[in-house]
Amino acid sequence: MPREDNQLSAAIKSTIIGAAPEGVTDQQASARAVREMFTSIAPRYDLLNHVLSLNIDRLWWRRTSRAFAGILSRPGAQVLDLCCGTGDMAFALKRQAGKSAPKILGADFSHAMLQRASRKSAATALRWVEADALRLPFADGRFDLVTSAFGFRNLANYDAGLAEIWRVLRPGGECGILDFGEPAGVVGSVYRIYFKRVLPAVGTLISGVKGPYAYLPASVARFPKPGEMQQRMERVGFREASWTPYTFGIAGLYRGKK
Ligand SMILES: C[S@@+](CC[C@H](N)C(=O)[O-])C[C@H]1O[C@@H](n2cnc3c(N)ncnc32)[C@H](O)[C@@H]1O
Repeated sequence: MPREDNQLSAAIKSTIIGAAPEGVTDQQASARAVREMFTSIAPRYDLLNHVLSLNIDRLWWRRTSRAFAGILSRPGAQVLDLCCGTGDMAFALKRQAGKSAPKILGADFSHAMLQRASRKSAATALRWVEADALRLPFADGRFDLVTSAFGFRNLANYDAGLAEIWRVLRPGGECGILDFGEPAGVVGSVYRIYFKRVLPAVGTLISGVKGPYAYLPASVARFPKPGEMQQRMERVGFREASWTPYTFGIAGLYRGKK
């Protein structure tokens, strides 16, 4: 292992890291603040997502589901979409699966977000479960695929989150974590102005709530960089950990196999 990677591994071994909304001092308080934040923006969440991402979020969900086309084409496959929010990642998985119709379950700890997911999916076989991603109410080895879109970054403890995903995957099962990144170069400079100034202002205006859209860029800055995240995945046991940048690295997909 190169020297830099060794140093990174040593640093990772001694750090617990997870989301930390402003003012919180422990993991429980962080989870509570995150749940309250998403519950407060649930009524406007979909609108804001599409406006603030200029609808590119739809492409990212679609691309993520295409990455798991093999698993999704198996009729008996069991799929969990973690931190599912109002359900758009789960809908994309369902569309990709088409007629093979695997069993797709969405889990989230915000009741208000799940209510909206449930309303949007009334005529489908999608099912929703109110659950904390760090304490999932599922048996070991149940799922063939676990995805999470823009949710994992909000967990109070990333290693515990990865360990819980690992636990509920069957051997050979796969995980896909889609989340924001920090693009480099000129694109990065322009994007940072948008992400740190324009987005919080527009988000606050439309949602009528101040905290969440200031928290978003802060949480992305705090999230491990791709190399570190892959090492964290490998430490939990994932094989073939990888990261594929989407749209200049504004977002990206982490993948790993149990
Ligand atoms: C940014 S939203 C993403 C929603 C959806 N996946 C999407 O792509 O639009 C993050 C979601 O993660 C959920 N979440 C955050 N921490 C969680 C946890 N510990 N357990 C379950 N859900 C959690 C929030 O309630 C919220 O609905």
